Amino acid sequence: MPRGFFITFEGLDGSGKTTQLRLLADSLETEGRALVTLRQPGGTALGDRIRSILLDSRSESTLGHIAPATEMALMFADRAQAIHEVILPALSAGSIVLCDRYTDSSEAYQGGGRQLGSQRILEMHAAACDNLQPDLTILLLPSLEASLKRARRRNQRNTQKKGADENRFESEPDDFYRRIHSKYEEIAAREPHRVFPIREDASIEQIHAHIREIVAVRLAQPVG
Ligand code: TYD
Repeated sequence: MPRGFFITFEGLDGSGKTTQLRLLADSLETEGRALVTLRQPGGTALGDRIRSILLDSRSESTLGHIAPATEMALMFADRAQAIHEVILPALSAGSIVLCDRYTDSSEAYQGGGRQLGSQRILEMHAAACDNLQPDLTILLLPSLEASLKRARRRNQRNTQKKGADENRFESEPDDFYRRIHSKYEEIAAREPHRVFPIREDASIEQIHAHIREIVAVRLAQPVG
């Protein structure tokens, strides 16, 4: 059966990865490639429900404190459903799948940020996702200072625009983001063949051009 190509985008909140994913999707579509895009958490009917529990900052007052292990398990429940409903069928049909966040986010946010550690996340990945790994991960990782500045700016904008909704993670203190940033560094160092970190704080167009280059090279290689 033909197999597509699985690409994930990773980075801190406000890293610009969602913009870059859209630009890449547009250019691949222009080339006539079959494409499926999704984001995590979310992307399925069940996942969208999980997303609203996890991201809404009001959840803590209506549901009580969400324990780190619960947060991890919900992220993986969402992911398992997305793999079953969207990702595997698309890959089997030969499509390129572009996913906004995947297991590296769980390792960085729950493993690093919430301090559950990498091992628990990787074991959960094996159990819930049958270890399905992306073929390529674009990690947008400007310096921690630049990332924090952007995340705060975005947090303010979002609070003005949408009230407290979807801000549960974005109202965490700087230390939380420091741990996420260093966990992403650790993942990039551990898996240099899969993970391409983009560290420059360049323009949107320059970063897009860089990503297109990386993707073109990888798509030209046989999947192994
Ligand atoms: P979202 O609004 O999609 O943020 P972004 O545009 O930055 O991706 O919110 C996703 C949030 O959920 C983000 O703060 C990271 C967090 N998250 C985890 O903590 N663990 C995970 O496994 C995933 C997929 C996301």
